Amino acid sequence: MRIEDSRVLEALPKLQVELQRSVSLAELTSLGIGGTTDLLRIQRHDSIPELLALLEEHHIAHKFLGGGSNLLVIDGELPFVVLQLGQPRPDVVIEGDTAYVDAAVDLGKTVTFCAKNNLGGMEGLIGVPGTVGGALRMNAGAYGTQIGSCVREVKVYRAATHEIKILKGPEISFEYRHTSFAPDDMMLAVTLQLPSKPYQEILQGIRICNEKRRASQPLGQKSAGCIFKNPSGASAGRMIDELGLKGFSVGDARVSDRHANFFVNSGRASAADMLRLIADVRQRVEHAYGVTLENEVVVWNA
Ligand code: EPU
Repeated sequence: MRIEDSRVLEALPKLQVELQRSVSLAELTSLGIGGTTDLLRIQRHDSIPELLALLEEHHIAHKFLGGGSNLLVIDGELPFVVLQLGQPRPDVVIEGDTAYVDAAVDLGKTVTFCAKNNLGGMEGLIGVPGTVGGALRMNAGAYGTQIGSCVREVKVYRAATHEIKILKGPEISFEYRHTSFAPDDMMLAVTLQLPSKPYQEILQGIRICNEKRRASQPLGQKSAGCIFKNPSGASAGRMIDELGLKGFSVGDARVSDRHANFFVNSGRASAADMLRLIADVRQRVEHAYGVTLENEVVVWNA
């Protein structure tokens, strides 16, 4: 989608919003799939209510992009513009046992920055790609740690009421790959409360998780991490593997040989290829196990 309305274009510099024309989402997502659209990079949180009101007034559909690491975007000219937060400075502020982190900050960078300040508790999250905002929305987790358990409060833009709000930890429910944020809440920043630990001890935990991940996941390839959520008490990866589907492909969309719940773009996979692979694998698992796998990957198809 191309923003043409002159009133919107004139307002952007005043709001400190940078417009990038015809950006390829394939370049901004870890799957390397997705069509093109205009991108608006937001430099100040407090300009968001006005920006969103302007877009709504001019009927410009929009979506919020985090790190693009858990996302499958359709091909072609996209019917929406994309909003992304710019990187503020400073982006992580430590105070005692808390860390205030802007939502645009890389999660891995946050884990290591906190570690260097002797704040642990997030070792399991090392290697989870994406931004802190994306991790919060999905309650990202690995190796026994979920980000939700470290949250003291979250700053969000709530589209329904056009306001920036601070939500206290107990007001938000964090479950397995699910949160109680509204679908169009935009994560802006989080205050994490973390246990104090010596750096060397945290580093040891980080190394262990890195090794486990390297041994079991296709890290060098284009993927969106796990495609499906694990059903209660079962592993989607194990079921897909048991059906002999490692290496199964539709075009260049392929079930990883290393971890069957990772689907990789082995060349020039289209969104249609990836969606067909997802549907086909889901159907086979349903047929064999009577379990309907739910997407973990977020799909932007309209
Ligand atoms: N397994 C297989 N074949 C496979 C993959 C896994 O037999 O191809 C078996 C493993 O041997 C193991 C079991 O299935 O016995 C579970 O596998 P794993 O430890 O790799 O964990 P997972 O349940 O597949 C989850 C998260 C990952 C996270 C890891 C480590 C989900 C959907 N996935 O994977 O998160 O990194 O645990 O904690 O919850 C993600 O969310 O994108 C993600 C990668």
